[in-house]
Amino acid sequence: MATAITDIGTLLTCDPSLGEGPGGVLRDAAVVIDGGRVAWVGSTAAVPAADDAYSARGRALLPGFVDSHAHLVFAGDRTAEFQARMSGRRYSAGGIRTTVAATREATDEALEANVARFVGEALRQGTTTIETKSGYGLTVPDEARALRIAARHTPEVTYLGAHVVAPEYADDPDGYVELVTGPMLDACAPHARWVDAFCERGAFDADQARAVLTAGAARGLVPRVHANQLGPGPGVRLAVELGAASADHCTHLSGADVDALAGGDTVATLLPGVEFSTRSPYPDARRLLDAGVTVALASDCNPGSSFTSSMPFCVALAVREMGMTPDEAVVAATRGGALALRRPDVGRIAPGSRADLVLLDAPSHVHLAYRPGVPLVAAVWRGGVVVH
Ligand code: NIG
Ligand code: FE
Repeated sequence: MATAITDIGTLLTCDPSLGEGPGGVLRDAAVVIDGGRVAWVGSTAAVPAADDAYSARGRALLPGFVDSHAHLVFAGDRTAEFQARMSGRRYSAGGIRTTVAATREATDEALEANVARFVGEALRQGTTTIETKSGYGLTVPDEARALRIAARHTPEVTYLGAHVVAPEYADDPDGYVELVTGPMLDACAPHARWVDAFCERGAFDADQARAVLTAGAARGLVPRVHANQLGPGPGVRLAVELGAASADHCTHLSGADVDALAGGDTVATLLPGVEFSTRSPYPDARRLLDAGVTVALASDCNPGSSFTSSMPFCVALAVREMGMTPDEAVVAATRGGALALRRPDVGRIAPGSRADLVLLDAPSHVHLAYRPGVPLVAAVWRGGVVVH
């Protein structure tokens, strides 16, 4: 059954071949959806006959957000750590261990309820595809259960046993890498699509991260890397060297890092919720875009460094703080995320793509940045079905 959505004031297709600019913008547009897919895109004046019609009444339609980086399987929160930071304390990845302790203690039901809550919260804010990671278990059974729970909510599941060295291995980090690349990988690989490592001082060095990522790749998992978040380092170049789908954070980049990203096809995923919540300088999206790097925006939703599931908030931060135009930011939050997850079926509104759509209570997507903090998402379709 085909439905025509007509009278769309601004349609951001995120397919430059369909409209104006990097967002492929069309005005007074219409979209026909059929069988969960987009069947037709064009002007309202030319819309073909459909079984059903829905008027957007001049409002904006864009693809569902693709949040390509989140950590949703955890228990507890770190309010006190946030409060301390807002009184001047620096963020340290050491806080991850607080969440590891709480997560290990939690029942499966409690973890599952948390994931469902955050996925639902994200959906109501327009996120129709979300990635999520393990990384707060750090034992074989705890990592495997995190991935099993995550996989019940999204196909985009990432094995992050290499988040930090588990407390039991504090004196033997290489022993922990052997666990992560051996028995833990055996238990986790069947439940995941991606493998990730936090390559940073205080977490894993380049050799350790390379060992984890190549072991995962040998088991069919595609690498993505937490890189250059807290300081300069080898993470971004390692990601490009390994052909990772994405290098995430990219906050502290050298010229060589930017050149490496520009010369490869690793997406640079920027996570401005982290800089907001850790009161740190934002990554320079303008520099990356000007160098020709593909940029994605994601939430990094986690209880430590970025406790937001809101892609509209990330878009607003990217425009205000990172030198992105509103079109670039929304494209990065949709098509960019889809590229970072190697998902050609989502992140744009084009014939054949999945009918994941967000209708705004606003005449254009620019209002996501222009009216920060305002709940502008009026309706969400996922696979052609109205889900909000
Ligand atoms: O992406 N960088 C490492 N991991 C998370 C932080 C996790 C935490 O603080 O609990 C991140 O920022
Ligand atoms: Fe992260």
